[in-house]
Amino acid sequence: MSALFENYDVGGLHLRNRVVMAPMTRSRAPNDIPNEMGALYYRQRASAGLIISEGTPISREGQGYLFNPGIFGPDQIRGWQKATQAVHARGGTFFAQIWHVGRVSHTSIQIAGKAPVGPSEAQGGKAFGYDAQGRPNMLSASKPRALATAEVKRIVDDFRQGAINARNAGFDGVEIHAANGYLFEQFLNPGVNDRHDVYGGSRENRCRLVMEVIDECVAALGAHRVGIRLSPHGTLFDMPEYDDNGETYLYLAREIEKRGLAYIHLHDQGGQGMAPLPMDYLRTFRQTYGGNLLLAGNLEKESAERMITDGLIDLPVFGRMYTSNPDLVERMYNGWPLAEYDPDTFYGGDARGYVDFPTYPEDQARKAREAMIADNQA
Ligand SMILES: Cc1cc2nc3c(=O)[nH]c(=O)nc-3n(C[C@H](O)[C@H](O)[C@H](O)COP(=O)(O)O)c2cc1C
Repeated sequence: MSALFENYDVGGLHLRNRVVMAPMTRSRAPNDIPNEMGALYYRQRASAGLIISEGTPISREGQGYLFNPGIFGPDQIRGWQKATQAVHARGGTFFAQIWHVGRVSHTSIQIAGKAPVGPSEAQGGKAFGYDAQGRPNMLSASKPRALATAEVKRIVDDFRQGAINARNAGFDGVEIHAANGYLFEQFLNPGVNDRHDVYGGSRENRCRLVMEVIDECVAALGAHRVGIRLSPHGTLFDMPEYDDNGETYLYLAREIEKRGLAYIHLHDQGGQGMAPLPMDYLRTFRQTYGGNLLLAGNLEKESAERMITDGLIDLPVFGRMYTSNPDLVERMYNGWPLAEYDPDTFYGGDARGYVDFPTYPEDQARKAREAMIADNQA
């Protein structure tokens, strides 16, 4: 049998296969509260070995997109409970991706129209907020305000609370979103972080915020319930390349291994039109980090199997294919064809393109029904 469909153990959590559903923002939660439709969406995909939720902000300040279900209020915790119960009812495992966008936000969605926050005043990225006419729109992120040193501690506390809220919402663990140009990458990157306090300058200082958040989440949930997403050499949302990039992430890998986290999840941004993660670097990262390694970005069944067999990764992560194939595991297992995804319905809107993609057997049954009706009419 293909390694993809083997059981796998992550920190004592039993995954029934190695197929992981990627975190994907779908922007369909009115008032930023997870609803029944969201629960159905995750339930439909629960045959995955592990589902990682869409990014869920740990505070209003940490939000960069409208209709994005958060994890900072009681209604949100109750809303997420519907989704976690739905996934668990089908025997799935479910981590929450906890998130602060940092500078990638817009005044129109911040409390009292305040500026977003970041390590510095360097501006970059695109947010989903309200335009001048009050319509939801993709907009250039607003100019951020540089966080004072004491405020950074408050963000660390927000993450600790977010992790506790995620546990109370029924999630099996959390994934700290430290990829894709958001808050943590802004601190890691000396092209954006020009601070002179303990959070800027040396490699250790630039990594301090993410390490403090890891330690707080580990203290709250236990290391085996905490994973992290990283995108070495990532340039999404205007992140400039820098000489120390590779070494910065290897330093993080060593520190994370010491703490025994559930996993590191690498995101190769090649699938999103950016420069791909160099294979040599992936090899070096694998040799440096002895824990569970997940990889996302343009993977297909064959490439995922090959990378597992070659010992490069432990768990492959699938994103866009999961939007249109709720039964991706069954389709790959049986060799059934995959349904094409529809980028127009990725973000925002209603049930269309969200919970109306059928499983392969449902699709076959519908086609058979339609053929029968057509025959009867002929
Ligand atoms: C609609 C959409 C929303 C996404 N939202 C998130 C997100 O909330 N958090 C995150 O870390 N990555 C996000 N991503 C990136 C995916 O997790 C994944 O890494 C990417 O799609 C590459 O995998 P693929 O080539 O299998 O699609 C998103 C991608 C898509 C297409």
